[in-house]
Amino acid sequence: MDKYIISGGRRLEGRVRVQTAKNSVLPILAAAVLTDEPVTVLNVPDITDVRNMVKILGCLGCKAVYCGNDIVIDSSSADNCEIPRALAHELRSSVFLLGSVISRFRRAKIAYPGGCDIGLRPVDLHLTGLKRLGVKITESNGYINCECEKLTGNEIMLDCPSVGATENIMLAAVRAEGTTVIKNAAREPEIEDLQNFLNALGGRVRGAGSGSVVVEGVKKLGGCIYQPIADRIEAGTFLIATAMCGGDVELNGVNPENLSSLLHKLRENGCKLRAKNDKIFIRSDRRPVAVKSIETQPYPGFPTDLQAQMTALCCICSGNSIVTENLFETRFKYVPELRKMGADITVIDRSAFVRGVEKLKGATTVAHDLRGGAALVVAAMAAEGESEVLDISHIDRGYARFEHKLSSLGARIRRVGI
Ligand code: UD1
Repeated sequence: MDKYIISGGRRLEGRVRVQTAKNSVLPILAAAVLTDEPVTVLNVPDITDVRNMVKILGCLGCKAVYCGNDIVIDSSSADNCEIPRALAHELRSSVFLLGSVISRFRRAKIAYPGGCDIGLRPVDLHLTGLKRLGVKITESNGYINCECEKLTGNEIMLDCPSVGATENIMLAAVRAEGTTVIKNAAREPEIEDLQNFLNALGGRVRGAGSGSVVVEGVKKLGGCIYQPIADRIEAGTFLIATAMCGGDVELNGVNPENLSSLLHKLRENGCKLRAKNDKIFIRSDRRPVAVKSIETQPYPGFPTDLQAQMTALCCICSGNSIVTENLFETRFKYVPELRKMGADITVIDRSAFVRGVEKLKGATTVAHDLRGGAALVVAAMAAEGESEVLDISHIDRGYARFEHKLSSLGARIRRVGI
């Protein structure tokens, strides 16, 4: 298993291009099962979640091949509607395939999904939504079995605005008979991206981003060449790293609007931020000032996927902060690791109470999940002395060429195989 060795205390300077969004690419790859025509997804990040999704597509009988940074999927040969345990466990997003596999085969069998261990990640809303479209669902031996004669549009009210459930229902509804309306839908930019992708295939989806998504079923979908949106979480991680290390950094190829909740907080921290077209410029020259309260919320609120990195920033601010996690339980597993670096954090229920210290100190820490791992890396980059971050396979799930990009900004970080 690889680890990072990081020498902290280096200011970040330069320009970095933001990768294509992991959370857009995964459902889009799942959606490619819905058509017999070839689909090309451009500039796909080289991360293990995507590689696992490509493996799953292969297991369904689709041909998915890398062409440079792009992936071309030909699903005309798809002939299997079962996703085995070993693959489903490696990738939570395998659950997105339920909607498209059931739409294609009228049958699907998938093992309960895996992914980050950040607390209970139920799929009840996915299943309730699919049932409303006419799918019969049974569960046995850790497998979800789905069957239907046909899919029929319906109105679906989500109990909470789940990103995955919204996407899964969109995938099942796009070729259903009649119209589906998803109420209390998630409003994340990646939902709108999936809508745009489905429409590029010839689907009729509207309303994404508004909380009410309307899908008019069509008989057949075609192919397309598609560039998904930029990864706002990778972008946010670079911004937080710059705020912590000090520096002057330009992010390219990003939509600043999708990051407004973070930009707002970083300004309160005392960073200078400017956004122009698809660029964000950040300048951080002195110790950040604590933001009193940060609460994760569904979009457009503060993203849970930046909670860990933001807490790392709070650790070195002047003053105290409270970070509250409202989406996932146990998303504070990285806290004991930050404490090894001298952070002063107390977790009570869903909130982390952070008292800012002047400096963090280098230490050996262990990544337990994707975003928590990224938080340990940015903390180590801002710390005095040398750190090691172990078990970085979690980080490889979501950040492509992470150490290369950070090194290009002046960080001292290298990967070592053990
Ligand atoms: C997606 C993102 C993930 C992000 C999360 C929240 C992808 C591949 N992953 O995950 O990076 O952290 O959105 O922005 O896009 N819930 C239920 N029942 C369900 C489904 C969800 O109770 O059937 C709850 C969850 O426990 C959680 C909340 O809804 O409390 C949000 O989860 P959801 O939006 O579904 O997250 P994911 O789609 O898994």
